[in-house]
Order: sequence, then C-alpha cells, then structure tokens
Amino acid sequence: MADTKLIVFFNTKGGIYKTTTSIMTAYELAKDKDKKILLWDLDQQANLTQYVYKTNHDDKTTLDMLKDVRADEIIIKSFNKSYPNIDLIPSDILMAKFERELFSFPMREQFLARWYMNNFDALSKYDYIFCDLSPKYDLTAMNALYLADSVVVLIKDKNVSSLRGADYFKQLWDIDRSYFNKEDNIKATVLVGFEKKKTELSKEFDSYLKEFDVLRSMMLNTYIRKNEFIEKALLKKLSLTDFLKDTKDHFSRQEFTAMLEELKEKGVL
Ligand SMILES: Nc1ncnc2c1ncn2[C@@H]1O[C@H](COP(=O)(O)OP(=O)(O)OP(=O)(O)O)[C@@H](O)[C@H]1O
Ligand SMILES: [Mg+2]
Repeated sequence: MADTKLIVFFNTKGGIYKTTTSIMTAYELAKDKDKKILLWDLDQQANLTQYVYKTNHDDKTTLDMLKDVRADEIIIKSFNKSYPNIDLIPSDILMAKFERELFSFPMREQFLARWYMNNFDALSKYDYIFCDLSPKYDLTAMNALYLADSVVVLIKDKNVSSLRGADYFKQLWDIDRSYFNKEDNIKATVLVGFEKKKTELSKEFDSYLKEFDVLRSMMLNTYIRKNEFIEKALLKKLSLTDFLKDTKDHFSRQEFTAMLEELKEKGVL
C-alpha cells in the first residue's frame, strides 16, 4: 500500500501559479510509472479540470462528496494517455455550492477528512494527491489544509500582495490548526514568476520580504522563473521535461527539476 502524501500549493493571493504548479509537478512525478497520482480539484473556477481534462463535462465532482458518493464513482481514471498513472477528481462551477452546503454539516472543517477515511481503500493507493484550491481561506480550504501532509506556499516575485497573502494565511492557519490539534504542515515557500530585471516594485518586494523571517526561512533555494515554456507545456498537457525533451540544458526544466528535488528533501514529495 502506498504511503500517500497529500500536498496543497496555496496562497490567498490569486493568479500566482498554484494550479499550474500542482499540474506540472504531477506530470513530472508521473514519469515514474510505479507512482500513482491523484489531482483533486476543489476550486469552483475549475481551472485544473480545464487544463488537464475538459472545459465542459458532466462527470461527478468534489461536490458529490456531500451526497456521500464514493470515491470510485467520482474519480476519473487515466484521463491523459501520456500519463495513465494520473487520475482526477474534477470540479465545475457548481462547486460554489460546496462552501455553502458545508456550513450545515457537523464538524464541518473535517468533512473531507471523514469522506477520505470512508474511502480510504480507494485513496490510499495513491502515492501523491494534489489538492487545488481557490485563493480563499474558506471552509473548503480549511478542509483540504486539515487533510494535507504538506502545504507549500507560493510567493510571486515583485508581488507584495502575494507576500501579504502568504503571511495572512500562515497566521490564520496557525491559529486554526492548533484548535484542531493539527501539526504544522506548512513545509516550504517557493518564489515563482522570478524576473531578473530590477524595478521599483522589486525593491519594495525585497525589503518587504526581509520582514517575513518565517516565510523567508522556509523558502527553497530554487525559484521558478517567469517563462512561456511552463504555459506552453501546460496547454500541450505535457510535463516540462517531456515538452522540452529535444532542447538541451534548458533553464526552465532544470529549475523545475531542482524544485522537485528540494521538495523531496523536505519530505513534501
Ligand atoms: N512560470 C510561469 N511563467 C509564466 N506564466 C506562468 C508560469 N506558471 C504559470 N503561468 C501562467 O500564469 C497563469 C495563472 O496561473 P494559475 O492558474 O496556475 O494560477 P493560480 O494561482 O492557480 O490562480 P487562482 O488563484 O485563480 O487559482 C496561467 O495562465 C499560467 O499558464
Ligand atoms: Mg488556481
């Protein structure tokens, strides 16, 4: 039986590569055919579902968990021929109801943890589960964060609100998780969208970053540069290394691989 690692890339700031990083990490890990991976979309924007699967679909979604639908009936198996060891729990716009309906459940912050345990046979065969959230610290997020073995906070270069979002999230989660007796599962921060060019904004960002000792101390040495290759690979539904396989020594491939190595060293992957 696999020793499942459930991972969330998170920040309360939107548009800072959370979904992309989940998908590209999953594609990269899937090259080891012995590993089984589940992508779990919990965002009503359903960007992950759209990127990896389809824009419109009639499949069951995370929302059906509220009706106690079993994992086997929700999980879409082997949807990408290049990576048949990746499965999907999709989302769609109706996920907006999930948050509202959760409110009426007892111990609502642990609803997904209960569903997970009720479906342990189906879920425990995965080596990695990536939960993709909207950029909101809401009840849905709390449910996934409570389940997570590791949370990796993404911070976007020159984006001061992504730093504030990271700090705000850490403060809230530290309070809430201690209430639930949950261990500190924020294991790393990663700087994404890095651009060498110094601007007025980068000075402000760099000096602001100095104030956040904890976030800074958790930051990986590897950063992910702003580049078009990740986006292109995403649209081709390919891992970065497969997309760039005919290109020698490409920085984008190297930095992404280095990020995964560091996350392995930290026990996240
Ligand atoms: N390294 C990169 N360089 C440039 N663009 C990137 C990179 N990684 C991702 N992108 C692009 O940035 C956009 C936003 O990414 P993504 O949807 O992953 O953000 P998000 O944090 O999940 O957003 P949301 O908060 O809305 O869920 C996408 O168009 C994606 O293709
Ligand atoms: Mg997203």
